[in-house]
Amino acid sequence: MPTVNPESQSRIGFLYESGWEKRVFTDKPYNPKNYIFRGFFMPVYETMNKNYAASAQAQEDKKCIRRVLKLASKGRGSVHPNPMVGCVIVKNGRAIAEGYHQYPGGPHAEIVALRKAKDKNISLKNATMYVNLEPCCHHKKKTPPCVPEIIKSRVKRVVMAMRDPNPQVRGKGIKELQAAGIECIIGMHEQEAKELNKFYVKWITKGIPYVLMKWAMSLDGKIAARTGDAKWISCPEAREYVHKMRAGVDAVLVGIGTVLKDNPKLTVRLGEIEGTVPDLWRTNRIFRQYKNPIRVIIDPGLKISPEAKVIGPEAKTIIFHHRLNIKAKLELLNNNNCKTVYLQKNKNGTMDFKQIMRFLGGQNISSVLIEGGGNTNARALNSGVVDEVFAFISPKIIGGENAITPVEGNGISKIGQATRLKDIKIEKIGCDFLLSGKLQRGNSKGAGINQCSQE
Ligand SMILES: NC(=O)c1ccc[n+]([C@@H]2O[C@H](COP(=O)([O-])OP(=O)(O)OC[C@H]3O[C@@H](n4cnc5c(N)ncnc54)[C@H](OP(=O)(O)O)[C@@H]3O)[C@@H](O)[C@H]2O)c1
Repeated sequence: MPTVNPESQSRIGFLYESGWEKRVFTDKPYNPKNYIFRGFFMPVYETMNKNYAASAQAQEDKKCIRRVLKLASKGRGSVHPNPMVGCVIVKNGRAIAEGYHQYPGGPHAEIVALRKAKDKNISLKNATMYVNLEPCCHHKKKTPPCVPEIIKSRVKRVVMAMRDPNPQVRGKGIKELQAAGIECIIGMHEQEAKELNKFYVKWITKGIPYVLMKWAMSLDGKIAARTGDAKWISCPEAREYVHKMRAGVDAVLVGIGTVLKDNPKLTVRLGEIEGTVPDLWRTNRIFRQYKNPIRVIIDPGLKISPEAKVIGPEAKTIIFHHRLNIKAKLELLNNNNCKTVYLQKNKNGTMDFKQIMRFLGGQNISSVLIEGGGNTNARALNSGVVDEVFAFISPKIIGGENAITPVEGNGISKIGQATRLKDIKIEKIGCDFLLSGKLQRGNSKGAGINQCSQE
């Protein structure tokens, strides 16, 4: 059974099995003991006991859940807003069937694996089913619930990485399985499972998408020259990486300033970037036809030209605006694969990012990649909607006080008020560096800042 080295997983997971990225530094070096600890001693274990944790069975279960996580990740970019789920069925120490959820409305991973086992005419009596998410038991959805099928199959045990946070399922699937006499083990590799499905977890529990923010800047912190020219700050490999990020999210968002200056398409064009080595991704299983994310533009004055490259048949475009009495332009845009959404400005004269995210969540958009520019980034960060930042740093110096920075606006007056990141990773991508981290919430602002300042 192939194993997954947690160190080889990028935070966003597109390179889950590619081995393409090379991490040069993390703030938490990989230590297998940490993973064993997490896997064995999760407080949510239903059948948690010392004998089990030390058993050969627990080792086997762990290995199979790692395989399940790897299978689940194959659904990235195509199953959203559904969770990525993988399933393996093992009998007498042999994996007899496996599967993963491929697209919304398609069969769930459990059903795919059960069907494969049935096709092989193998009785599942005394078999173990491994899944990364609690099997579903609710009816108000496109596909029938998995729990009754699992019970019918007569498997003896179900080992799962995490409970389904969906209020319609949360714990109910487990209860039904247990009531049917099936042993359930919950919490194996739970942190990895939650990380894998972080978009789904946030969207299903809060109704708003998980938000990534990305920028490419020079060593001196500029995202464009003073003229607005930004092509290209980052190296081809870094731009290729961004296309992979786009392929894994439901929507990409930019401000009108970027549309007017750069006229970007915001589509996924993997392998089309000059200078990247096509073999690098063609030979990996990450090569497949990705769907383009929905494009989201914030354009209060509806300055966008109907000829802009972000408008067209390749992908839908949602434009948030604040203009009245422009029926003709709205009709033109709406007939061109666009949805125009009128949004009131708040008392600060800006459109509320929280409202924007609530709207996008309501459209089944579970993840958004904000690609700037500096004014849009500042407003999104100030509103508190951003979960994670990806900063590509290129060894170039641009200079100029009028050259734009990744986060414009008024900024803060005291360093102690700075927004801080946690779970920092630094990777070398081509000749650039990618520094990424999750935004600290709550009382974290400024915490420990003195440790970093110059004495
Ligand atoms: N290197 C990189 O990673 C990167 C990425 C993207 C862009 N860029 C560069 O950055 C430059 C553009 O950045 P920019 O800061 O000038 O423009 P921008 O952030 O793309 O767009 C800012 C404009 O969008 C509208 N907007 C955004 N959020 C809003 C909100 N919450 N409420 C109301 N309006 C909102 C406003 O339009 P109104 O002015 O109409 O009110 C605002 O002036 C370009 O030179 C581009 O090449 C670089």
